[in-house]
Amino acid sequence: MNRGLNRFAIFVACATFFLIIAGALVTSNDAGLATPDWPRSNGTFFPKMVGNLFWEHGHRMVATTVGMLTIVLLVYILFKEKRSWVRKLGIFALLAVIAQGLLGGLTVKLMLPLAVSAAHATLAQLFFCTTVSLAVFTSRRWIEARPIAEEKGTLPLRYLCTAALVTIFLQLIIGATLRHSAPWDQKLPVELVLTHIGGALAVTIALGSASLAVLRRHKDEKFLTRPAMIALLLLVVQLSLGIAAYITRLRSPNDPQPLNPMISITVAHVACGALVFVTTIVLTLRTYRVLPARPALRESFLKDYRIRQDLQDSGTV
Ligand code: HEM
Ligand code: HEM
Repeated sequence: MNRGLNRFAIFVACATFFLIIAGALVTSNDAGLATPDWPRSNGTFFPKMVGNLFWEHGHRMVATTVGMLTIVLLVYILFKEKRSWVRKLGIFALLAVIAQGLLGGLTVKLMLPLAVSAAHATLAQLFFCTTVSLAVFTSRRWIEARPIAEEKGTLPLRYLCTAALVTIFLQLIIGATLRHSAPWDQKLPVELVLTHIGGALAVTIALGSASLAVLRRHKDEKFLTRPAMIALLLLVVQLSLGIAAYITRLRSPNDPQPLNPMISITVAHVACGALVFVTTIVLTLRTYRVLPARPALRESFLKDYRIRQDLQDSGTV
């Protein structure tokens, strides 16, 4: 385990979270077309940061910094990391951030079409998921984790958590489509709002049952209960922010320009959505790490684990 690499991966994941907030501020301030050109802003790389250019160009600068941090992270991984799948994930992170930057440029060039803006918002979440996963895989807790318990219920936790993760991801796509289908001065489409509320219900059931099953079955295993508890807490906050976002968005078309509290609440809803997603990723990855797929498979799981561990110790993988 390389502590420096892990710390740097955590730093890049935090910077990505900050970038998601910076991006959401562009949308909520309706600053997406503060400058119609790309890669330059108003014909220069360093425009005066006035008005909505502060949000738009500021977001580009944060994105450029995160892009450079991702390159450094990849180089760090290639030097220090032996596991080939972690190296591949580092390469994937770089490709994802490049694609994300190009989508950002494209959405400006094409004047914010729904499909491109929603794809940009969704890929942002996937990129965040990748940087958080890199932080998880390089952590001491992950590397030193031992198979801790048998599966106690009939439905294995890893499948419950994966189902919750997929449901959240679909909900993020619906949320992005909803958010980009009407700017602040127009009403949100009713059918999309209803689909998103249905999605919220599905997420509540899927994530609620996965987290509660973790807390019930493995209450002494902090490795699993901690992310499960955080996910539940974030889910409650996210549902409340969703309702608040809806109320403020109902009123925003009467305002002369995007105003608070609409801006801060919608941005917080995007940011908390990202946190619900990555916390569930941490939980899901950890269930795959320490729990077998089925109770009967426990012995072979432990055997496989020992073989893998021996191979890793001898430097074969
Ligand atoms: C490279 C990493 C990048 C990430 C992770 C990222 C992330 C995001 C996020 C999370 C949003 C908010 C979406 C929402 O609120 O629904 C956003 C919005 C936006 N981003 Fe990026 N972005 C990146 C790069 C760029 C670049 C290079 C540009 C170049 C112009 C750009 C232009 C925009 C624009 C114009 C919006 C507002 C879209 C709208 O209002 O429809 N982004 N970005
Ligand atoms: C687990 C539950 C929920 C999750 C994970 C979630 C996630 C999201 C995300 C990620 C976005 C923005 C996507 C983007 O542009 O990147 C969004 C938008 C939105 N969500 Fe949710 N949401 C949830 C529940 C709710 C609920 C219960 C409501 C209440 C009606 C709601 C109302 C909204 C509204 C109104 C928007 C658009 C905001 C805007 O136009 O700026 N959400 N949601």
